[in-house]
Amino acid sequence: MEVVEQIADVHRLLADVRKTGRSIGFVPTMGALHQGHISLMQSARAEQDYVAVSIFVNPTQFAPHEDLDRYPRPRERDLELCAAAGVNLVFYPSVTEMYRPGASTFVTVNELTDAWEGAIRPGHFRGVTTVVAKLFHIVPADVAYFGQKDYQQQEVICRMVRDMDFQIEMRNCPTLRDPDGLAMSSRNAYLSADERQAGLCLSRALRAGEQQFRQGVAPAEISRQMQELIASEPGAQLEYAIVADPDSLVALETSQAHAVALVACRVGKTRLIDNALWTCDTEATHRPAAN
Ligand code: PAJ
Repeated sequence: MEVVEQIADVHRLLADVRKTGRSIGFVPTMGALHQGHISLMQSARAEQDYVAVSIFVNPTQFAPHEDLDRYPRPRERDLELCAAAGVNLVFYPSVTEMYRPGASTFVTVNELTDAWEGAIRPGHFRGVTTVVAKLFHIVPADVAYFGQKDYQQQEVICRMVRDMDFQIEMRNCPTLRDPDGLAMSSRNAYLSADERQAGLCLSRALRAGEQQFRQGVAPAEISRQMQELIASEPGAQLEYAIVADPDSLVALETSQAHAVALVACRVGKTRLIDNALWTCDTEATHRPAAN
């Protein structure tokens, strides 16, 4: 496995890979790797000839009051996990390698970034799309692997790829969870045992909501009940809980076949997010009973 810090070295190595006609899979990360990240690398490994991973804690997607400084950076452990997952190349740039002095160009996706994470973290998605656009130029991959865990991020990046004609295919992979239901996240390392317990209200709300969705309960009512469930957890502060259209991310009032439930709360100083894609057979739900 090659570990490189310079953009020029990535270009040189990947030009050689391209020349031999091998397909390239790419997994962008901020490190502090867990099994969720590894599952993306494994999908890339299974589908592509060559797997590149980037590890970069991107400062432009953190607001000044957020956790940029305390975000974990276990370099050696991360590199070991990449090697064990069969990764060929890790791009591990410094901040100055990615953002040269005077860098002043940003990529912005409108509308999809207005609500939910975008509303709570103004400027966050601008940092994400800017760094991912740069990474897609640095790593000329055939397929990029992203996790459903960050559903809005995944949708925003898909929109950027489409709108800006990036020659890369987006592969969206399922969320990995710990056995208690908590979605894996690098930020879970911040949680005490009690906080972790409180954080389980998110996956509980999603499970309860899905049952109601399948029974044809109106999304507006499900959103209200998910909000109530999360708000009633003493250790958690509700940020949002909503049933939305999976493409536009606009909150739904009435039932439709496909929906995404997006939930977020704060547990102590830590923000947790989760989501689920729901399908309901509206035909069956609304079909009049046979005589
Ligand atoms: P990071 O939070 O490190 O996540 C990297 C990738 O791993 C993302 O696509 C994310 O959705 C996925 N991921 C995280 N937790 C997961 C889980 N439990 N199951 C499956 N996949 C999971 O997302 C970022 O980094 C950054 O914003 C980045 C895209 C790298 C831009 O800086």
